Amino acid sequence: MNLKRIFSKTPMSRSSRAYDFALDTVLSLPPEGRILEIGTGQGFSAAYLSRRLPQAHIIALDVTYECFKGDELEFGPRKPDFLQASAPQLPLESASCDAVLLVMTFHCLPEPQEVIREAARVLKPGGSLLIADVNGHHWIARPFEWVEHLGISPLTHAYTPEEIRALTEAAGLRDFRIHWRPGKEGGFMMWVRAQRPK
Ligand SMILES: C[S@@+](CC[C@H](N)C(=O)[O-])C[C@H]1O[C@@H](n2cnc3c(N)ncnc32)[C@H](O)[C@@H]1O
Repeated sequence: MNLKRIFSKTPMSRSSRAYDFALDTVLSLPPEGRILEIGTGQGFSAAYLSRRLPQAHIIALDVTYECFKGDELEFGPRKPDFLQASAPQLPLESASCDAVLLVMTFHCLPEPQEVIREAARVLKPGGSLLIADVNGHHWIARPFEWVEHLGISPLTHAYTPEEIRALTEAAGLRDFRIHWRPGKEGGFMMWVRAQRPK
């Protein structure tokens, strides 16, 4: 098993409680909403979302499906659409999604500003962008980057909340909020949300 595969097994991917936190506290979604997850990785999160939101249209996107665990996934009644594409060019029409989620994906994207602009483009007015990732202010951020640079990607950067806020505002998103999961993660994971104005 190579280093990339080991690191693809982030604790987030199988943690339904992390996604429950996103859906219960950070976001408010219409039950029949259209939700895009960028960087679905193994696919557990997309499968979980399809069970938790049985009427929703879940679209999962990744640049590669080399870590995908198709045989282990348990879907809700409406199976997600799995797309292969790179996030700076989302193959979706403008103003078509109620939410765009990136969980432990933003730190490894090649063109972060373009990805946020694309997310803002595909969000409906009032739709929400959620980014959950390593907090660049936490002590663990630098070791996390060093290890990622050694074996995963030289691009990895643990963003600070201020950097993400600036990127979202430059893309026209507003109402930036930051959440911390109580009793979990010790502040190393930040859960940020910004909205496309109505
Ligand atoms: C650390 S994994 C996180 C996967 C999953 N969200 C989780 O929490 O377990 C980051 C994912 O982002 C994907 N990714 C990296 N660059 C991407 C890009 N340009 N477009 C779409 N996905 C990308 C990777 O292939 C990988 O599956």
